[in-house]
Amino acid sequence: MRKLSVLTIAAALVLQAHADEGMWTLCNLPQPVYQAMQAEGFQLPYDALYKSNDAIKNSVVNFSGFCSGVVVSPDGLVFTNHHCGFEAIRSHSTVEHDYMLNGFVAKNYEEELPNKDMFVSFMVSQQDITDRLTQLGIDQRDKEAKSALIDSLQNALTQEAKAQDSTLHVDIDAFYEGNRWYATTYQDFTDLRLVFALPKSMGKFGGETDNWMWPRQTCDFSVFRIYADKNNRPAAYSKDNRPYHPQHWAPVSLKGYRDGDFSMTIGYPGSTNRYLSHYGIKLRRDAENAPRAQVRGIKQEVMQRHMRASEAVRIKYDSKFAQSANYWKNSLGMNKCIDSIGLVQQKRDYEARLRQWQDSTGFLKGKLDFDKLGAYYEKRFDRVRTRYYWMETFRRTNELATRAMRLAMGGMEVKGPKKPASKQYHEFADNSNEWDAALDKEVLAVLLKNYRQQVGNRYLPKFYTTIDQRFGGDYQRFVDDLYARSIIMKKGAKLFYNTKAYKEDPGVRFGQDVMDIYYDLTEGMGAINDSIEAQERYLCAAKLRMEEDMPHYSDANFTMRLSYGQVKGFSLGGKELGYYTTPESIVEKMDRAKSNVDYEAEPIMRQLLSSKDFGRFTDKDTKKMHLCFLTNNDITGGNSGSPMFDGKGRLIGLAFDGNWDSLSSDILFDSLLARCIGVDIRYMLFMMDKWGHADRLLKEMGL
Ligand code: ARG
Repeated sequence: MRKLSVLTIAAALVLQAHADEGMWTLCNLPQPVYQAMQAEGFQLPYDALYKSNDAIKNSVVNFSGFCSGVVVSPDGLVFTNHHCGFEAIRSHSTVEHDYMLNGFVAKNYEEELPNKDMFVSFMVSQQDITDRLTQLGIDQRDKEAKSALIDSLQNALTQEAKAQDSTLHVDIDAFYEGNRWYATTYQDFTDLRLVFALPKSMGKFGGETDNWMWPRQTCDFSVFRIYADKNNRPAAYSKDNRPYHPQHWAPVSLKGYRDGDFSMTIGYPGSTNRYLSHYGIKLRRDAENAPRAQVRGIKQEVMQRHMRASEAVRIKYDSKFAQSANYWKNSLGMNKCIDSIGLVQQKRDYEARLRQWQDSTGFLKGKLDFDKLGAYYEKRFDRVRTRYYWMETFRRTNELATRAMRLAMGGMEVKGPKKPASKQYHEFADNSNEWDAALDKEVLAVLLKNYRQQVGNRYLPKFYTTIDQRFGGDYQRFVDDLYARSIIMKKGAKLFYNTKAYKEDPGVRFGQDVMDIYYDLTEGMGAINDSIEAQERYLCAAKLRMEEDMPHYSDANFTMRLSYGQVKGFSLGGKELGYYTTPESIVEKMDRAKSNVDYEAEPIMRQLLSSKDFGRFTDKDTKKMHLCFLTNNDITGGNSGSPMFDGKGRLIGLAFDGNWDSLSSDILFDSLLARCIGVDIRYMLFMMDKWGHADRLLKEMGL
């Protein structure tokens, strides 16, 4: 048995309350947390995480601002999830070259595909600058003045960093609900090329059926490469750029893991609300999640019908649908969990204890006020709920509303000569490969009808009168007419916005009516939002003080975090669901493809996975190849593509999902139920090898 020092045991005891929960920043990882990690099997020195030149953190990237990734070779190869590379893969796909359907393997550097508007970002360093901001008087400022101060300090720090290295920039972020502030220095690379993708059948195996579920067999990874200029520095895309040579990359490991082994993820979790009051949780459940799920449910039904009827439409909407469906299902699952574990009541009880403690200590007396907090939330509820319906109905749900609102919000580029003004116009770029008119029209009609049913008459855009009076309440006829008559949907049309025709255009007016409601919904909300924010910040501060004898992590905010724990199976209602899945289990699902298209895959996939011998990809312990596996690492959206490391810092997998039974963990981490679902590195390498014949890539990773 491993010998534990007294200190380590003490640390483990302190942390027991947390039971491996937490998304820790690396620059100031508390010693007790590091000691608990050691006690659980982490074998590297403290400095190997963040400080040393070849620190593990140097291999982890923010993937394009919405996911995570990891560098795995001396030539800048990056692993992330298939669902993170999804839009890049889709954007290169046509009916003739359908990389989404057929996969993509670049056979050499020349074939690697550049991607517009994508990047990876390395965290260079991070620093707590709360004291500096306190000295500058941040606590005495109102919201606007606060953000002005942050902006100016951020600029100053960026200038300082750029004086050292022109490719760096600094971001300042709020931590612990705005009780602390950190400055983080980043280096971004924007020439990022697609190298390898499996067919969607595997990269998204199980589709929406299995999303957020365990057991799982999805081979959810894709491969990109970072390119740099001839001096190995970040540069805009150029055909002369070369593969980037990083200082450090993560070694891929065929050694695997056993049940109970140490495992750690490092990545970019987007957002959690672990400090949120029970009032906030109710709002999230009833005014945010519920509307989101309701509207997306009906929208997706229409999308699915059109996508099934046409391959061209399917290609156009693949990402839009997946994006919508992902948090549709998440919202449903989270609300179910919030109720089944009685989360609101748990939080209410905790707050009652906190309140008693506040009464006895006088901490934040006259500031933190639970009754006021409740009253503020109460006052805001209806408008927040309506605003969610508004957002889910009009924002990025269909092309017409998107265009109309872009015009109404101003900010569209002005084209044409400076003078005379009558010659100036707006123009929408041709994006006909991203939407389909028939689908778009039906979605809009269905959503308009639903919006009124859900929110009633108080917040209806003006055009509803037209729907009633001119179209006898027929939403589809109204929308079809809008499409037929409005200039904003005409391909290549120049929109001369100074003209009467423009101002009276039904599409332009539609956008203005929609935006009027938005202004109506947000009018006067600033003050109450600020009050809630301040109260939630006090609440967090009180919790930190009441429990000051143990370390606390901050809520996720899309900065780099480490989460440690173990490879760990999962049981539900007495049923053991295991800690890994096998090739047999995916073949069994493929055999059910007739009754569920989400389990469809090419015959070659079935054949490969029916092999009797997986060679070096077989787990030494279980004698199986592992497809996906579970740990209790604490992750959330944004962590997708996060490397999963073993106790020696070797790469054993990529995190790609959470499990259905713990979807409320963003609010309260449930250590019994919460699991991180990862794709096993050996499954990925097997597919690269046997399906992709990607020898050059395997060699590059030292295999
Ligand atoms: N739920 C996962 C996440 O949020 C995967 C999403 C993509 N998969 C899907 N079937 N839509 O990262």
